[in-house]
Amino acid sequence: MNKKSNILVAPSILSADFANLERDIKKIEQAGADWVHVDVMDGKFVPNLTIGAPVVKSLRKVSKLVYDVHLMIHHPEDFIKDFINAGSDIITLHYESDCKNLKDTLKQIKIAGKKAGLSIKPKTPASVLEEYLDLIDLILIMTVEPGFGGQKFMTSCAPKITESLKLIKKYNKNIDIEIDGGINADTAQIAVDAGANVLVAGSYVYNATNIKEAIDSLKI
Ligand code: DX5
Ligand code: ZN
Repeated sequence: MNKKSNILVAPSILSADFANLERDIKKIEQAGADWVHVDVMDGKFVPNLTIGAPVVKSLRKVSKLVYDVHLMIHHPEDFIKDFINAGSDIITLHYESDCKNLKDTLKQIKIAGKKAGLSIKPKTPASVLEEYLDLIDLILIMTVEPGFGGQKFMTSCAPKITESLKLIKKYNKNIDIEIDGGINADTAQIAVDAGANVLVAGSYVYNATNIKEAIDSLKI
């Protein structure tokens, strides 16, 4: 049984078996995951390549989970339509990407009836988020340099979680704070104490001997 908790857990399929994505998404669904986190990388914004909208479209059919798509790509505006049509529920862009017009692109996501997220890398201050709060449903704070799973949580990013929460309260917005990178039962506590309510976890969940126990341990 899951503990009573308001924390949402979003396992990242970056650490799943890419030859068995359907099986591995069903595994986390049965184990009590709330969202499935899909890491899209273009080999330019980050030094790694993963999957694109056609794969999201196929995976959409295998589960009722919320599809939380994290775009680590330059020029996300060129691909938003594809990810919307693929059935993504949440589409998150990076503040640091070469997006031609971040505000218009976020609006495009919202107009399509999807949730829009904005992500910041470890070196980007939380203050940059302020002017986008009207347009977003989610703030994604990276606690590792994006690109790869299995890295160590950067504790130095925790104050940005608290700062983001302060901004959300200041403007009285309903915005989720999602943390991505190096999450395990210990670092989850740091993130939640700082004000996070959604936790992405790749290697911690998929490398666990008991996936359900791993997910439960994040619902703090
Ligand atoms: C990293 C990705 C993460 C990654 C997290 O660029 O955005 O979602 O899969 O993996 P872990 O939980 O192993 O740090
Ligand atoms: Zn991610």
